Amino acid sequence: MSEDTQQTLVLIKPDGVQRGLVGEIISRIEARGLRIAAMKMTHLDMETASNHYGVHRERPFFKGLVDFIISSPLVAIVLEGPNAVDLVRRTMGATNPVEAQPGTIRGDLAIEIGRNLIHGSDSTETAASEIQLFFDAAEITTYERDVQPWITE
Ligand code: RTP
Ligand code: MG
Repeated sequence: MSEDTQQTLVLIKPDGVQRGLVGEIISRIEARGLRIAAMKMTHLDMETASNHYGVHRERPFFKGLVDFIISSPLVAIVLEGPNAVDLVRRTMGATNPVEAQPGTIRGDLAIEIGRNLIHGSDSTETAASEIQLFFDAAEITTYERDVQPWITE
């Protein structure tokens, strides 16, 4: 990983899996040019879910959020590339789909904040701890892509 390369964690939440939007969502991020470094489907337990959303523990929506995120399997992905954290957040769109710009994942595919399809880490620090929560180091793969010089200088 070069110095300006970042990693970020994406979750395609249970609504994305149930609605059959896994391919659509991955396509949009993959087409942007980020490299998939790890990916798996997993059904979260209460402890991992509470840990992942620990920052929201005192918020009124916390219980509903955790119940939702454990209600069905999700897809966890590590994406890598320059500015990966911001690129993913901007490709996702605003947290509330009503405010998300058309052209973003949430702006095109979702209508309510509690069913906003996708999670993306909000900083490189959060990304590091979230990636650890979902993946063992050995599950994160490094490989070269011949297309890379056509995506980054
Ligand atoms: P995420 O963590 O899922 O990537 O989303 P985010 O950064 O855009 O939003 P965040 O503020 O971290 O909130 C986490 C998730 O909690 C749900 N939420 N519901 N009812 C509400 O007022 C409310 N606020 C947040 C959303 O599903 C949001 O993605
Ligand atoms: Mg968040």
